[in-house]
Amino acid sequence: MKNINPINTSAWKKLQSHFNEIKDIHIRDLFFKDTDRQKNMFLNFHNKIFCDFSKHRINNQTIKYLLKLSKETHLHDAIELMFKGKKINVTENRAVLHTALRNRSNKPLFINGVNIADLIDSELMRIKNFSDLVISGKWKGCTGKRITDIINIGIGGSDLGPKMVTESLRMYKNHLKLHFVSNLDGNHIINVLDKINYETSLFIIVSKTFTTEETMLNAQSAREWFFKSSYKKDKASVSCHFIAVSENINQAKLFGISKKNIFQFWDWVGGRYSLWSSAGLSIVLSIGFNNFVELLRGAYEMDMHFLNREFHENIPVILALINIWYMNFFKTETEGIFPYNQNMHNFPAYLQQATMESNGKSVNRLGKEVNWTTSSIIWGAPGTNGQHAFFQMLHQGNTLVPCDFIIPMFPDHDLLNHHERLMSHFIAQTRALAFGNDQDSNIKNIKLLDIDMNKKNIFLSRFKQFKGNNPSTSIILKKVDPFSLGSLISLYEHKIFVQGVILNIFSFDQWGVELGKNLASDVYCELKKDSITNKYDTSTNYLINLYKNK
Ligand code: F6P
Repeated sequence: MKNINPINTSAWKKLQSHFNEIKDIHIRDLFFKDTDRQKNMFLNFHNKIFCDFSKHRINNQTIKYLLKLSKETHLHDAIELMFKGKKINVTENRAVLHTALRNRSNKPLFINGVNIADLIDSELMRIKNFSDLVISGKWKGCTGKRITDIINIGIGGSDLGPKMVTESLRMYKNHLKLHFVSNLDGNHIINVLDKINYETSLFIIVSKTFTTEETMLNAQSAREWFFKSSYKKDKASVSCHFIAVSENINQAKLFGISKKNIFQFWDWVGGRYSLWSSAGLSIVLSIGFNNFVELLRGAYEMDMHFLNREFHENIPVILALINIWYMNFFKTETEGIFPYNQNMHNFPAYLQQATMESNGKSVNRLGKEVNWTTSSIIWGAPGTNGQHAFFQMLHQGNTLVPCDFIIPMFPDHDLLNHHERLMSHFIAQTRALAFGNDQDSNIKNIKLLDIDMNKKNIFLSRFKQFKGNNPSTSIILKKVDPFSLGSLISLYEHKIFVQGVILNIFSFDQWGVELGKNLASDVYCELKKDSITNKYDTSTNYLINLYKNK
């Protein structure tokens, strides 16, 4: 990928002077001036996802300059390099091919002389056969009982994606009960072990590296619990209840998992992009193989949209460009993600890792310090809960937060009255944020009242003022079904990639998590020693010694 300093492009300079002209214009006036605005700022993805980006502080000129920026930073070439499997994860010397995992075209794709399409297919077949056995009850526990509970042990990408998808697709779930254990805090595994029976439980240990401390410790605790609970303590019994998903087959074998129970994924699948691989085994067990294929199909169709559509009608590109505009010109720091769908309550947490672990970087592709913003802080909660918590600040605070509102057109339940009210709130919030209320007419009405009341009401009206001009994208899914969810996740994955390309950073490594990990093992050694420590700064020493003297 080329190394282009985005702020030295002519597009960036144009955007800067354009920003000075447009920054104070109200969204209300943008609508007033351009009657075609809604039509021109709306994209339809296969009648499955509708994306309205008209309630943003942009006009047609903004889009033109942003598209020019994508051209000057060679976005198109970067997209092709990724899909072709070039090693764009430079600092780890790896290709980035989560798109190959959902490629339904049957075209071969050679990486280091190996057709990875074949590898993917054969692993998918293994997943199908295995999940069919478990779901149908043919897979038996060590005492001959069928499996009722699946426990996914993993963290980060080996947890957040599968958990978010299985919960979002609750309506597609079969009889198996899914549990997710990620945290190093023993409460997490204990809370799950308390609920299950060893005879009918299947643990899936998901870890790309199979060295992650949290996952390894939780897996060991689960195995100890199994040995304590079961009178059968042989290898064959463990085989019935423990399987692994990893790139690191040897390490998984060392843990005691037999080869036939290890599902593979590869170094060209990043952890936070791995739910499409065997790391998504818990998804397959929860919704069945055919629904999983639909999820892949939805993602593939979005991949094709991203790869082939002109940028002006390319949803991931447009949404990425708009976010670059806010981060770097309006200097926004955060993005609010609000799924108006309770089952998607984990979507903001999933997107936090996907976005912030990918783009939370401060050096460019040459390793030099950058002086532009590379990532938003992602946060959010499902609607309407958020409305009764933090929306006050979105409406009347003085921090600008671009928001994504996401809702299905059709609910997956039959409480239609709930859904219509939910939809009303969704639409009302995006309108209230953008347009605010009409303060002048409030004050005019007040003038008709008596004089004392007037003073009080004029005073109060200051607090009841909604200035508006708060931007949002509305994303309406036809339904939260496997296809649309697959497309939506792929949309956000590509949005993240586009931002990384244009902002000249590497999006697929995550060196930022290493220091804390290494220090923790160092500190652990100090905690185990009898003597007091004076190895670090005074604050750190004090905390260690306080714990040791407990
Ligand atoms: O947080 C760092 C990280 O490496 C993530 O990128 C990854 O998703 C997570 O840890 C888990 O890693 P693994 O799947 O190797 O256990």
